[in-house]
Amino acid sequence: MTAAAIASQEILKPHLTVAGGHSLGGTIRVSGAKNSALVLMTASLLTADTLELCNVPDLTDIGGMSEILASLGVKVERQADRVRLNAAVLSSSEPPYELVNSLRASFFSIGPLLGRLGHAKVPLPGGCRIGARPVVEHIRGLKALGAVIQVEHGIIHANVPGPNKRLKGASIILDCPSVGATETILMAAVLAEGTSTIENVAQEPEVQDLANLLNRMGARVSGAGSPVITVEGVESLHGCLDYPVIPDRIEAGTFLMAAAITRSRLRVEPVVPEHLNAVLQKLRDCGCHLDIDATGITITPKEITAVDITTQPFPGFPTDLQAPFMALMTTARGTSVITERIYENRMQHVGELQRMGASIRVDGNTAIVEGVFRLSAAPVKGSDLRASAAMVLAGLAADGTSKVSGLQHLDRGYDDIEAKLNGVGAVISRQAS
Ligand code: EPZ
Repeated sequence: MTAAAIASQEILKPHLTVAGGHSLGGTIRVSGAKNSALVLMTASLLTADTLELCNVPDLTDIGGMSEILASLGVKVERQADRVRLNAAVLSSSEPPYELVNSLRASFFSIGPLLGRLGHAKVPLPGGCRIGARPVVEHIRGLKALGAVIQVEHGIIHANVPGPNKRLKGASIILDCPSVGATETILMAAVLAEGTSTIENVAQEPEVQDLANLLNRMGARVSGAGSPVITVEGVESLHGCLDYPVIPDRIEAGTFLMAAAITRSRLRVEPVVPEHLNAVLQKLRDCGCHLDIDATGITITPKEITAVDITTQPFPGFPTDLQAPFMALMTTARGTSVITERIYENRMQHVGELQRMGASIRVDGNTAIVEGVFRLSAAPVKGSDLRASAAMVLAGLAADGTSKVSGLQHLDRGYDDIEAKLNGVGAVISRQAS
Protein backbone atom coordinates (compact mmCIF):
# COMPACT_ATOMS: atom_id res chain seq x y z
CA MET A 1 0.00 0.00 0.00
CA THR A 2 1.41 3.39 -0.95
CA ALA A 3 2.42 5.89 1.74
CA ALA A 4 -0.34 8.19 0.53
CA ALA A 5 -2.91 5.42 0.84
CA ILE A 6 -1.68 4.61 4.35
CA ALA A 7 -1.79 8.28 5.27
CA SER A 8 -5.28 8.66 3.88
CA GLN A 9 -6.36 5.64 5.93
CA GLU A 10 -4.83 7.29 8.96
CA ILE A 11 -6.83 10.39 8.24
CA LEU A 12 -10.02 8.38 8.67
CA LYS A 13 -9.05 8.15 12.34
CA PRO A 14 -9.61 11.04 14.78
CA HIS A 15 -7.36 13.86 13.70
CA LEU A 16 -6.74 17.58 13.97
CA THR A 17 -7.02 19.85 10.97
CA VAL A 18 -4.37 22.56 11.35
CA ALA A 19 -4.64 25.63 9.10
CA GLY A 20 -1.21 27.01 8.31
CA GLY A 21 -0.16 30.63 8.04
CA HIS A 22 -2.00 32.13 11.03
CA SER A 23 0.20 34.12 13.38
CA LEU A 24 -0.26 33.77 17.13
CA GLY A 25 -0.58 36.47 19.80
CA GLY A 26 -1.54 37.06 23.41
CA THR A 27 -0.93 34.73 26.36
CA ILE A 28 -1.08 30.93 26.34
CA ARG A 29 -1.46 28.98 29.59
CA VAL A 30 0.78 26.10 30.64
CA SER A 31 -0.72 23.24 32.67
CA GLY A 32 0.88 21.24 35.46
CA ALA A 33 3.69 18.87 34.49
CA LYS A 34 2.54 15.43 33.33
CA ASN A 35 5.86 13.80 34.25
CA SER A 36 5.65 15.23 37.75
CA ALA A 37 1.94 14.69 38.45
CA LEU A 38 2.14 11.00 37.51
CA VAL A 39 4.95 10.19 39.92
CA LEU A 40 3.52 12.41 42.69
CA MET A 41 0.33 10.37 42.46
CA THR A 42 2.28 7.16 43.15
CA ALA A 43 3.75 8.80 46.29
CA SER A 44 0.25 8.50 47.81
CA LEU A 45 1.07 4.80 48.38
CA LEU A 46 3.62 5.81 51.03
CA THR A 47 1.10 6.94 53.64
CA ALA A 48 -2.30 6.08 55.11
CA ASP A 49 -3.16 9.80 55.11
CA THR A 50 -4.70 11.80 52.28
CA LEU A 51 -2.50 13.31 49.58
CA GLU A 52 -4.04 16.18 47.61
CA LEU A 53 -2.37 17.55 44.49
CA CYS A 54 -3.43 20.69 42.60
CA ASN A 55 -2.47 22.09 39.20
CA VAL A 56 -2.82 18.54 37.85
CA PRO A 57 -3.22 18.49 34.05
CA ASP A 58 -6.31 16.95 32.49
CA LEU A 59 -4.64 14.15 30.46
CA THR A 60 -5.51 10.59 29.56
CA ASP A 61 -2.37 9.47 31.43
CA ILE A 62 -3.70 11.00 34.65
CA GLY A 63 -6.88 8.98 34.19
CA GLY A 64 -4.80 5.87 33.54
CA MET A 65 -2.75 6.36 36.67
CA SER A 66 -5.92 6.95 38.71
CA GLU A 67 -7.24 3.61 37.44
CA ILE A 68 -4.02 1.77 38.30
CA LEU A 69 -3.85 3.19 41.83
CA ALA A 70 -7.56 2.42 42.35
CA SER A 71 -6.83 -1.21 41.36
CA LEU A 72 -4.48 -1.34 44.37
CA GLY A 73 -7.16 0.01 46.70
CA VAL A 74 -6.27 3.70 46.63
CA LYS A 75 -9.30 6.01 46.84
CA VAL A 76 -8.90 8.55 44.05
CA GLU A 77 -11.09 11.63 43.55
CA ARG A 78 -10.49 14.04 40.68
CA GLN A 79 -12.14 17.45 40.57
CA ALA A 80 -10.97 20.02 38.01
CA ASP A 81 -7.18 20.34 38.51
CA ARG A 82 -7.25 18.66 41.92
CA VAL A 83 -6.65 14.99 42.72
CA ARG A 84 -7.17 13.59 46.22
CA LEU A 85 -5.68 10.17 46.94
CA ASN A 86 -5.95 7.98 50.03
CA ALA A 87 -4.06 4.68 50.36
CA ALA A 88 -5.09 3.85 53.92
CA VAL A 89 -6.39 0.46 52.82
CA LEU A 90 -4.38 -1.24 50.09
CA SER A 91 -6.13 -4.32 48.74
CA SER A 92 -3.38 -5.36 46.34
CA SER A 93 0.23 -4.79 45.42
CA GLU A 94 -0.20 -6.12 41.90
CA PRO A 95 -1.18 -3.46 39.36
CA PRO A 96 -2.73 -5.18 36.31
CA TYR A 97 -0.46 -5.95 33.34
CA GLU A 98 -2.53 -4.24 30.64
CA LEU A 99 -2.61 -0.99 32.61
CA VAL A 100 1.10 -0.91 33.53
CA ASN A 101 2.05 -1.80 29.98
CA SER A 102 0.25 1.27 28.68
CA LEU A 103 1.59 3.69 31.28
CA ARG A 104 5.29 3.40 32.07
CA ALA A 105 5.16 5.75 35.08
CA SER A 106 2.97 3.24 36.90
CA PHE A 107 5.96 0.90 37.11
CA PHE A 108 7.54 3.42 39.47
CA SER A 109 4.88 2.40 42.04
CA ILE A 110 7.06 -0.65 42.86
CA GLY A 111 9.21 1.67 44.98
CA PRO A 112 6.53 2.98 47.36
CA LEU A 113 4.81 -0.43 47.46
CA LEU A 114 8.04 -2.04 48.72
CA GLY A 115 8.65 0.83 51.12
CA ARG A 116 5.15 0.72 52.60
CA LEU A 117 4.17 -2.97 52.33
CA GLY A 118 7.43 -4.87 51.86
CA HIS A 119 6.11 -6.70 48.79
CA ALA A 120 5.01 -5.98 45.22
CA LYS A 121 4.24 -7.81 42.01
CA VAL A 122 4.55 -5.36 39.11
CA PRO A 123 4.60 -6.19 35.39
CA LEU A 124 7.74 -5.16 33.51
CA PRO A 125 6.81 -2.07 31.47
CA GLY A 126 7.10 -2.70 27.77
CA GLY A 127 9.44 -0.74 25.59
CA CYS A 128 7.83 1.66 23.20
CA ARG A 129 8.46 3.08 19.76
CA ILE A 130 11.23 5.39 20.95
CA GLY A 131 13.33 2.71 22.60
CA ALA A 132 13.69 -0.42 24.73
CA ARG A 133 13.48 1.60 27.96
CA PRO A 134 14.84 -1.06 30.34
CA VAL A 135 14.36 -0.86 34.12
CA VAL A 136 17.71 -2.37 35.09
CA GLU A 137 18.67 0.62 37.26
CA HIS A 138 15.35 0.58 39.09
CA ILE A 139 15.87 -3.10 40.00
CA ARG A 140 19.54 -2.66 40.93
CA GLY A 141 18.61 0.12 43.34
CA LEU A 142 15.77 -1.82 44.98
CA LYS A 143 18.04 -4.84 45.44
CA ALA A 144 20.68 -2.60 47.05
CA LEU A 145 17.99 -1.52 49.54
CA GLY A 146 17.43 -5.17 50.46
CA ALA A 147 14.59 -6.27 48.20
CA VAL A 148 14.68 -9.83 46.84
CA ILE A 149 13.59 -9.66 43.20
CA GLN A 150 12.67 -12.38 40.71
CA VAL A 151 11.29 -11.91 37.22
CA GLU A 152 8.85 -14.56 35.99
CA HIS A 153 6.61 -14.39 32.93
CA GLY A 154 7.20 -10.64 32.59
CA ILE A 155 6.22 -9.96 36.20
CA ILE A 156 8.62 -8.62 38.81
CA HIS A 157 8.12 -10.38 42.16
CA ALA A 158 9.71 -8.23 44.85
CA ASN A 159 9.85 -9.00 48.56
CA VAL A 160 11.62 -7.54 51.58
CA PRO A 161 12.90 -10.32 53.89
CA GLY A 162 13.06 -10.04 57.66
CA PRO A 163 10.53 -9.88 60.47
CA ASN A 164 9.51 -6.28 59.89
CA LYS A 165 9.86 -6.44 56.07
CA ARG A 166 11.62 -3.08 56.11
CA LEU A 167 14.14 -1.94 53.48
CA LYS A 168 17.60 -0.93 54.68
CA GLY A 169 19.43 2.27 53.68
CA ALA A 170 22.27 1.74 51.19
CA SER A 171 24.80 3.50 48.98
CA ILE A 172 23.79 3.27 45.31
CA ILE A 173 25.53 4.52 42.17
CA LEU A 174 23.33 4.54 39.06
CA ASP A 175 24.95 3.50 35.78
CA CYS A 176 22.89 6.19 34.03
CA PRO A 177 20.92 9.17 35.38
CA SER A 178 17.55 7.51 34.78
CA VAL A 179 14.60 9.73 35.80
CA GLY A 180 12.33 6.81 36.63
CA ALA A 181 15.00 4.85 38.46
CA THR A 182 15.88 7.89 40.57
CA GLU A 183 12.21 8.42 41.47
CA THR A 184 11.53 4.72 42.14
CA ILE A 185 14.56 4.30 44.41
CA LEU A 186 13.88 7.60 46.17
CA MET A 187 10.32 6.55 47.05
CA ALA A 188 11.59 3.20 48.35
CA ALA A 189 14.37 4.76 50.44
CA VAL A 190 12.28 7.31 52.37
CA LEU A 191 10.80 4.60 54.64
CA ALA A 192 13.94 2.42 54.78
CA GLU A 193 15.85 1.87 58.04
CA GLY A 194 18.93 4.11 57.98
CA THR A 195 20.47 6.47 55.47
CA SER A 196 20.78 6.04 51.69
CA THR A 197 23.00 7.92 49.26
CA ILE A 198 22.13 7.68 45.58
CA GLU A 199 24.78 8.91 43.14
CA ASN A 200 24.63 9.75 39.43
CA VAL A 201 20.92 10.52 39.83
CA ALA A 202 18.65 12.33 37.39
CA GLN A 203 18.46 16.06 38.20
CA GLU A 204 15.25 16.84 36.33
CA PRO A 205 12.81 19.35 37.88
CA GLU A 206 10.28 16.52 38.19
CA VAL A 207 12.70 14.65 40.50
CA GLN A 208 13.07 17.83 42.55
CA ASP A 209 9.28 18.21 42.71
CA LEU A 210 8.97 14.65 44.05
CA ALA A 211 11.66 15.26 46.68
CA ASN A 212 9.89 18.47 47.76
CA LEU A 213 6.59 16.63 48.15
CA LEU A 214 8.18 13.76 50.09
CA ASN A 215 9.75 16.27 52.49
CA ARG A 216 6.34 17.94 52.91
CA MET A 217 5.09 14.46 53.88
CA GLY A 218 7.76 14.12 56.57
CA ALA A 219 10.60 12.51 54.64
CA ARG A 220 14.22 13.64 54.98
CA VAL A 221 15.57 14.03 51.44
CA SER A 222 18.44 16.34 50.48
CA GLY A 223 20.39 16.97 47.29
CA ALA A 224 17.57 16.63 44.74
CA GLY A 225 18.62 18.55 41.62
CA SER A 226 22.29 17.68 42.24
CA PRO A 227 24.17 14.48 41.24
CA VAL A 228 23.84 12.99 44.75
CA ILE A 229 20.65 12.53 46.78
CA THR A 230 20.80 11.63 50.48
CA VAL A 231 17.80 10.11 52.26
CA GLU A 232 17.47 9.59 56.00
CA GLY A 233 14.82 6.89 56.35
CA VAL A 234 11.85 7.60 58.66
CA GLU A 235 9.27 5.32 60.30
CA SER A 236 6.26 6.70 58.44
CA LEU A 237 5.04 9.57 56.32
CA HIS A 238 1.94 11.72 56.79
CA GLY A 239 -0.27 13.20 54.08
CA CYS A 240 -0.12 16.58 52.39
CA LEU A 241 -2.92 18.80 51.17
CA ASP A 242 -2.95 21.35 48.38
CA TYR A 243 0.46 20.45 46.90
CA PRO A 244 0.93 22.29 43.55
CA VAL A 245 2.46 20.35 40.66
CA ILE A 246 5.21 22.36 38.89
CA PRO A 247 4.36 23.85 35.47
CA ASP A 248 5.03 21.56 32.51
CA ARG A 249 8.39 22.68 31.07
CA ILE A 250 7.93 20.49 27.99
CA GLU A 251 4.53 21.99 27.19
CA ALA A 252 5.98 25.47 27.79
CA GLY A 253 8.87 24.70 25.43
CA THR A 254 6.45 23.37 22.84
CA PHE A 255 4.43 26.62 22.93
CA LEU A 256 7.58 28.76 22.71
CA MET A 257 8.50 26.80 19.58
CA ALA A 258 4.97 27.27 18.20
CA ALA A 259 5.56 31.02 18.46
CA ALA A 260 8.99 30.72 16.85
CA ILE A 261 7.83 28.57 13.91
CA THR A 262 4.96 30.98 13.14
CA ARG A 263 7.21 34.00 13.73
CA SER A 264 4.72 35.25 16.33
CA ARG A 265 5.16 37.26 19.50
CA LEU A 266 3.60 35.23 22.30
CA ARG A 267 3.54 35.14 26.09
CA VAL A 268 3.78 31.71 27.70
CA GLU A 269 2.90 31.34 31.41
CA PRO A 270 3.42 30.03 33.99
CA VAL A 271 7.02 28.98 33.36
CA VAL A 272 9.89 28.33 35.78
CA PRO A 273 12.74 29.68 33.58
CA GLU A 274 15.46 27.61 35.25
CA HIS A 275 13.57 24.47 34.23
CA LEU A 276 14.27 25.37 30.59
CA ASN A 277 17.65 27.13 30.49
CA ALA A 278 19.16 24.92 27.77
CA VAL A 279 16.06 25.36 25.60
CA LEU A 280 15.90 29.14 26.17
CA GLN A 281 19.54 29.44 25.15
CA LYS A 282 18.90 27.59 21.87
CA LEU A 283 15.86 29.75 21.16
CA ARG A 284 18.01 32.87 21.64
CA ASP A 285 20.80 31.35 19.51
CA CYS A 286 18.38 30.73 16.63
CA GLY A 287 17.05 34.29 16.64
CA CYS A 288 14.34 34.73 19.28
CA HIS A 289 14.26 37.54 21.80
CA LEU A 290 13.01 36.42 25.23
CA ASP A 291 11.55 38.67 27.93
CA ILE A 292 11.66 36.57 31.11
CA ASP A 293 9.90 37.55 34.34
CA ALA A 294 8.83 35.79 37.54
CA THR A 295 5.74 34.21 36.05
CA GLY A 296 6.37 33.69 32.37
CA ILE A 297 8.22 34.33 29.14
CA THR A 298 7.37 36.55 26.17
CA ILE A 299 9.06 35.34 22.97
CA THR A 300 9.65 37.60 19.95
CA PRO A 301 11.15 35.73 16.98
CA LYS A 302 13.37 37.63 14.57
CA GLU A 303 14.91 35.85 11.58
CA ILE A 304 15.20 32.14 12.54
CA THR A 305 18.61 30.68 11.73
CA ALA A 306 19.80 27.09 12.10
CA VAL A 307 21.46 25.95 15.33
CA ASP A 308 22.64 22.49 16.41
CA ILE A 309 21.25 20.59 19.43
CA THR A 310 22.21 17.37 21.23
CA THR A 311 19.72 15.93 23.72
CA GLN A 312 21.12 15.17 27.18
CA PRO A 313 19.93 14.55 30.74
CA PHE A 314 18.92 17.71 32.66
CA PRO A 315 20.23 20.43 32.66
CA GLY A 316 21.03 19.64 29.00
CA PHE A 317 18.56 20.00 26.12
CA PRO A 318 15.59 17.70 26.90
CA THR A 319 14.88 14.77 24.58
CA ASP A 320 11.15 15.52 24.87
CA LEU A 321 11.66 18.78 22.95
CA GLN A 322 13.86 17.31 20.22
CA ALA A 323 11.00 16.69 17.78
CA PRO A 324 9.30 20.10 18.29
CA PHE A 325 12.68 21.82 17.87
CA MET A 326 13.35 19.84 14.69
CA ALA A 327 10.03 21.11 13.31
CA LEU A 328 11.25 24.65 14.01
CA MET A 329 14.58 24.01 12.27
CA THR A 330 12.88 22.80 9.05
CA THR A 331 12.19 26.45 8.08
CA ALA A 332 15.28 28.02 9.65
CA ARG A 333 17.92 29.68 7.46
CA GLY A 334 20.86 27.29 7.10
CA THR A 335 21.55 23.72 8.13
CA SER A 336 21.19 22.34 11.68
CA VAL A 337 22.49 19.09 13.14
CA ILE A 338 20.15 17.43 15.65
CA THR A 339 21.57 14.55 17.70
CA GLU A 340 19.42 12.31 19.93
CA ARG A 341 21.52 10.89 22.76
CA ILE A 342 18.81 9.66 25.18
CA TYR A 343 16.70 7.22 23.12
CA GLU A 344 17.83 4.83 20.42
CA ASN A 345 14.86 5.37 18.12
CA ARG A 346 13.44 8.88 18.45
CA MET A 347 13.65 10.05 14.82
CA GLN A 348 10.32 8.71 13.52
CA HIS A 349 8.95 12.21 13.07
CA VAL A 350 11.53 12.80 10.31
CA GLY A 351 9.53 10.88 7.70
CA GLU A 352 6.38 12.85 8.48
CA LEU A 353 8.21 16.20 8.30
CA GLN A 354 9.66 15.11 4.94
CA ARG A 355 6.11 14.53 3.69
CA MET A 356 5.55 18.23 4.42
CA GLY A 357 8.54 19.20 2.29
CA ALA A 358 11.24 19.31 4.96
CA SER A 359 14.77 18.56 3.80
CA ILE A 360 16.22 16.17 6.39
CA ARG A 361 18.86 13.46 6.16
CA VAL A 362 19.19 10.94 9.02
CA ASP A 363 22.38 9.12 9.90
CA GLY A 364 21.74 6.88 12.92
CA ASN A 365 20.63 9.18 15.77
CA THR A 366 21.69 12.33 13.96
CA ALA A 367 19.45 14.36 11.66
CA ILE A 368 20.86 16.99 9.30
CA VAL A 369 18.08 19.55 8.68
CA GLU A 370 18.43 21.95 5.74
CA GLY A 371 15.98 24.82 6.18
CA VAL A 372 13.40 25.35 3.43
CA PHE A 373 11.41 28.49 2.74
CA ARG A 374 7.99 27.01 3.60
CA LEU A 375 6.56 23.61 4.51
CA SER A 376 3.52 22.37 2.60
CA ALA A 377 0.46 21.00 4.37
CA ALA A 378 -0.07 17.22 4.24
CA PRO A 379 -1.82 14.42 6.12
CA VAL A 380 0.72 13.39 8.80
CA LYS A 381 0.78 11.05 11.77
CA GLY A 382 2.36 11.51 15.19
CA SER A 383 4.23 8.33 16.21
CA ASP A 384 4.73 9.29 19.85
CA LEU A 385 3.60 12.01 22.21
CA ARG A 386 6.21 14.62 21.29
CA ALA A 387 6.32 13.72 17.60
CA SER A 388 2.59 14.45 17.46
CA ALA A 389 3.22 17.89 18.96
CA ALA A 390 5.91 18.48 16.34
CA MET A 391 3.36 17.71 13.61
CA VAL A 392 0.99 20.33 15.02
CA LEU A 393 3.79 22.91 15.05
CA ALA A 394 4.75 22.09 11.46
CA GLY A 395 1.09 22.37 10.45
CA LEU A 396 0.86 25.85 12.01
CA ALA A 397 3.62 27.07 9.67
CA ALA A 398 2.77 25.08 6.53
CA ASP A 399 1.15 26.36 3.35
CA GLY A 400 -2.38 24.95 3.45
CA THR A 401 -4.30 22.82 5.95
CA SER A 402 -2.65 19.73 7.44
CA LYS A 403 -4.35 16.72 9.00
CA VAL A 404 -2.56 15.40 12.10
CA SER A 405 -3.54 11.93 13.33
CA GLY A 406 -2.08 9.96 16.24
CA LEU A 407 -4.15 11.93 18.77
CA GLN A 408 -4.04 9.02 21.21
CA HIS A 409 -0.41 10.04 21.75
CA LEU A 410 -1.00 13.79 21.76
CA ASP A 411 -3.77 13.65 24.36
CA ARG A 412 -1.47 11.77 26.75
CA GLY A 413 0.78 14.79 27.22
CA TYR A 414 -0.99 17.95 26.13
CA ASP A 415 -4.03 19.26 27.99
CA ASP A 416 -6.47 20.55 25.33
CA ILE A 417 -3.72 21.75 22.98
CA GLU A 418 -6.08 22.87 20.24
CA ALA A 419 -8.18 25.06 22.57
CA LYS A 420 -5.03 26.67 23.98
CA LEU A 421 -3.53 27.35 20.53
CA ASN A 422 -6.86 28.53 19.09
CA GLY A 423 -7.09 30.91 22.05
CA VAL A 424 -4.01 32.73 20.71
CA GLY A 425 -4.95 32.76 17.03
CA ALA A 426 -4.40 29.29 15.60
CA VAL A 427 -7.14 27.65 13.51
CA ILE A 428 -7.25 24.01 14.59
CA SER A 429 -10.25 21.72 14.78
CA ARG A 430 -10.62 18.16 16.02
CA GLN A 431 -12.36 15.78 13.63
CA ALA A 432 -13.82 12.54 14.94
CA SER A 433 -13.03 10.73 11.70
C1 EPZ B 1 11.08 9.94 31.85
O1 EPZ B 1 11.04 8.62 31.33
C2 EPZ B 1 9.93 10.67 31.17
N1 EPZ B 1 8.67 10.00 31.50
C3 EPZ B 1 10.15 10.67 29.66
O2 EPZ B 1 9.10 11.46 29.09
C4 EPZ B 1 11.50 11.35 29.36
O3 EPZ B 1 11.74 11.28 27.97
C5 EPZ B 1 12.61 10.62 30.11
O4 EPZ B 1 12.31 10.60 31.53
C6 EPZ B 1 13.97 11.28 29.91
O5 EPZ B 1 13.91 12.61 30.34
C7 EPZ B 1 8.14 10.15 32.73
O6 EPZ B 1 8.69 10.81 33.59
C8 EPZ B 1 6.83 9.46 32.96
P1 EPZ B 1 14.79 7.32 31.77
P2 EPZ B 1 11.95 7.45 31.99
O7 EPZ B 1 14.69 6.13 32.65
O8 EPZ B 1 12.08 7.64 33.45
C9 EPZ B 1 17.84 4.56 29.53
C10 EPZ B 1 7.43 12.03 27.53
O9 EPZ B 1 7.40 12.21 26.32
N2 EPZ B 1 17.77 3.67 30.69
O10 EPZ B 1 15.48 8.55 32.24
O11 EPZ B 1 11.44 6.15 31.51
C11 EPZ B 1 16.54 4.47 28.73
O12 EPZ B 1 16.58 3.36 27.87
C12 EPZ B 1 8.21 10.86 28.11
O13 EPZ B 1 6.84 12.74 28.38
C13 EPZ B 1 18.66 2.61 30.77
O14 EPZ B 1 19.50 2.44 29.88
O15 EPZ B 1 13.34 7.77 31.28
C14 EPZ B 1 16.52 5.76 27.97
O16 EPZ B 1 17.28 5.60 26.81
C15 EPZ B 1 8.91 10.07 27.02
N3 EPZ B 1 18.59 1.77 31.83
C16 EPZ B 1 17.23 6.74 28.93
O17 EPZ B 1 17.90 5.94 29.91
C17 EPZ B 1 17.66 1.93 32.83
O18 EPZ B 1 17.65 1.13 33.78
C18 EPZ B 1 16.29 7.66 29.66
O19 EPZ B 1 15.40 6.84 30.39
C19 EPZ B 1 16.76 3.03 32.74
C20 EPZ B 1 16.83 3.88 31.67
